Amino acid sequence: MRRDWDERAKENARHYVATAQTDWSDDAYFESGRQNVHHEILTDMGNVCQGQDPKTMTVLEIGCGSGRITRALSENFGEVYAVDVSGEMIRRASEALKDRTNVHLSQNNGQDLAVLGDVRVDFAFTYIVFQHIPSRAVICNYVREVGRLLKPGGLFKFQVQGDATLKTAPDDTWLGVPFSDAEAVEMAESCGFEPRYRIGAGTQYFWLWFFKR
Ligand SMILES: C[S@@+](CC[C@H](N)C(=O)[O-])C[C@H]1O[C@@H](n2cnc3c(N)ncnc32)[C@H](O)[C@@H]1O
Repeated sequence: MRRDWDERAKENARHYVATAQTDWSDDAYFESGRQNVHHEILTDMGNVCQGQDPKTMTVLEIGCGSGRITRALSENFGEVYAVDVSGEMIRRASEALKDRTNVHLSQNNGQDLAVLGDVRVDFAFTYIVFQHIPSRAVICNYVREVGRLLKPGGLFKFQVQGDATLKTAPDDTWLGVPFSDAEAVEMAESCGFEPRYRIGAGTQYFWLWFFKR
């Protein structure tokens, strides 16, 4: 995963992060991240914040790429921890977000959150990342790891590939492993989460609201 994503980052990081354009301007790129945060987070603040002031919250992003969504998270929340398997992506994110003093970026090993130690987070998020991971075990491990860092009752909102008709392979880091609704529920239960809401089963954008028990 690291080799492939480092290569993609060197070739055209912003395009592989968000394939809608090949030549993103800074403004358009970070505005697209703001739109994702608006649609998936700012319209869902009851579940995300549960009465807390977002500016007092610590949030986690897995697979931050070159910081497209991280910037928008940092504009809305108190502290943002973000990890990515690719050092090349983290290098670009560090450069692009050097004005954001509440962002903490780390390269991780692609399968757990050990690099963050035991930081406590109030909300966790990942978008268009798990859809690329070819191993169900790695995705389940991330869910377990979020459970380790998330406060009780906190939300991990994330998207997985839900289209089981796609041809995937164990070494394909572009088309990741799909989840059925039953598999998503099973993953939540085995990792200590309540899979309270699920939208988009059977599609690329299968969204899961996992609340830590
Ligand atoms: C399509 S990009 C999306 C980036 C960001 N989520 C966004 O929407 O702007 C996917 C990112 O996930 C990262 N990634 C892929 N597999 C990963 C893994 N196993 N652990 C952590 N990051 C991973 C890649 O390096 C890449 O930066």
